[in-house]
Amino acid sequence: MEKALHMKRIELGVCYYPEHWPEELWEDDFKRMKDLGFSIIRMAEFAWTIFEPEEGRFSFDFFDSAINLAHQHGLKVVLGTPTATPPAWLTHRYPEVLNVSQAGTAYQHGMRRHYNYNSPVYRELSARITRKMAEHYKDHPAVIGWQIDNELNCEINVFYSEADHRAFRTWLQQKYGSLEQLNQAWGAVFWNQTYTDWEQVHLTRPTVSDSPNPHQALDEKRFISDSAISFAALQAEILRETAPNQWVTTNGLFGHLDSHEMTNELLDFFAYDSYPNFSSIYPDKGDKPLLDRKWSWNLSAVRSISPTFAVFEQQSGPGGWVNRMEQPAPKPGQMRLWTYQSIAHGADMVLYFRWRTANIGTEIYWHGINDYHNQPNRRVEEARKIGNELNSIGEKIAESRYQAQAAIVRDYDNEWDGELDHWHGPLAQESTMAWVKAFQYQHIPADALYIRKDMKAEELLKYKLLVYPHAAILTQETADLLSEYVQKGGKLILGARTGYKNEHGHCNMAPFPGPVSELCGISVEDFTRVGPYEEAPEIVLEWSEERRVRADHFNEALKVESPKAEILAVYENSYLAGKPALVKNPYGEGFAYYYGGAFNLQLAEELLKEAGLSKPVDWVKVPEKVELAVRKHQNGSTFVFLLNFDHSPQEIEVEKEAKDLLTGTIVSGSVTMNPFDVLILE
Ligand code: GAL
Repeated sequence: MEKALHMKRIELGVCYYPEHWPEELWEDDFKRMKDLGFSIIRMAEFAWTIFEPEEGRFSFDFFDSAINLAHQHGLKVVLGTPTATPPAWLTHRYPEVLNVSQAGTAYQHGMRRHYNYNSPVYRELSARITRKMAEHYKDHPAVIGWQIDNELNCEINVFYSEADHRAFRTWLQQKYGSLEQLNQAWGAVFWNQTYTDWEQVHLTRPTVSDSPNPHQALDEKRFISDSAISFAALQAEILRETAPNQWVTTNGLFGHLDSHEMTNELLDFFAYDSYPNFSSIYPDKGDKPLLDRKWSWNLSAVRSISPTFAVFEQQSGPGGWVNRMEQPAPKPGQMRLWTYQSIAHGADMVLYFRWRTANIGTEIYWHGINDYHNQPNRRVEEARKIGNELNSIGEKIAESRYQAQAAIVRDYDNEWDGELDHWHGPLAQESTMAWVKAFQYQHIPADALYIRKDMKAEELLKYKLLVYPHAAILTQETADLLSEYVQKGGKLILGARTGYKNEHGHCNMAPFPGPVSELCGISVEDFTRVGPYEEAPEIVLEWSEERRVRADHFNEALKVESPKAEILAVYENSYLAGKPALVKNPYGEGFAYYYGGAFNLQLAEELLKEAGLSKPVDWVKVPEKVELAVRKHQNGSTFVFLLNFDHSPQEIEVEKEAKDLLTGTIVSGSVTMNPFDVLILE
């Protein structure tokens, strides 16, 4: 079943922490929220000690007052289960609940996420607080839904407590059945790692050169994901059973967690926390950085989980902790731009983080809409503007769906294996960003498509073009799926290192690209990394005027195996000169392209032309700096979002008459978009 958020109108709201403020402020806060057009607040996700001040004694008075007052002011409430921050009494009495570093040091009380998913006592106490809260609030007229924990796997996504080592053994026993099978899957004969007793088996531990067994490291990530999901499942089951009329979700998108599986199995829809200003301290690399526009790609990944979704934390101010993340303030207009970025990509509920900047604790520099002084400021006014706008257009846009004719394909196994394996992981990052930029700058809206077990070719056939940059681990099942997609008319672009590993991460003893060799009509005859001090060779493109492209990072010399295959580019220099680098193979009704390198922006843009993909909206001319996104209703009404991510004005050309939804005016001809401005054309 599709995991979408179903809203009648796009709702705005804010994260609110009543426990951070004197009670006298609440009423004025709630009044002003309503005044800004907010309708939903999210609370309680870090407040365990208030609900359970000592083990087994529960108290709801404090949050009852806050929630009742919010309700009186017409606000709806999303409640977080408070398990991201275990109380001091709990970690003190049961230190075994603490998460432990790989080297064996326990993470102590004082920050958050200092627990592990597998401690039996933590699971028991988490289940109990969840049940108590659900029983208490299941019929509260203001409470609409639940957020499980907060950002599973954020801050830290590795776990090495005793309980984790033990649970890993059980997980492996279920997966492999015997030590012989485990030894085989982990290639344990290499360097004499063979296990003769289950007690010898652990999650990875500190090793010389920090080089653990790669097959074990891959299983470790799968195990961490399963552990997080099973911890969430414990709470989801209680919430479902106790509070069946309220929805259940969680917020995130973090490493070592299969958020697709978690959502499909446990949640009603997925929620994301969007902080585009991280780009000011961690910009994307390579040509023409996307900066905050890169969050559009993150939102595409979220959309692949939930076609319409919620943003539970939308950045509203400068971000910073006392000791890290020194971000500048969002410029005037950027908070609004980022809000519409989320909406353009499918968010039908957007809650800002946070109502007022905390004046205590680690996050005193993670600014909210209101400053410490609580006086009017420009962010409050910007929020008011967005509130007014959504008040008039929110109903129209809600439930419409983002439109894409292309997708970048991904999967968790390669993502996790590629974290350790430098021979494909970094290539995937380079190539993915190159394709994201090519789609962005060419104004071709694109999705993220995650390969799942038992996926049907129909799900792929929604797209004219799929790019699966470096599927090093490629099972026969996935190869068959891709072949069926191309067979039935799809266009597929693959890059170097495809298909050389099996699901354990062993290298296949067969010519690359293994199970898709026939589909691509080639085999890999020779290959090399471009060494760190080497000059990358160039390739010469057959079809393009921009004929020369640098083949960075990795070079495979291809051998054409199919008589129908066409060589589209050869190496120009290096010892590979003259060898095919890019081959197009007709297969059934479609085409497979195989490129023996990592993609850069230039090549990705040229390949878009060769594959015949163009922007879906031909009546607006949009400069590169402006993102184009399209949401469409089943009934056909279509909204073209134009988002100016630049600090300077941008000129667009509207070649027919269209309604500008935000101002209600008809526009045509040339239109100037101010810095960070948004247009929604109907
Ligand atoms: C998120 C988290 C919030 C807050 C915010 C700013 O990751 O969910 O609770 O910490 O970041 O740091």
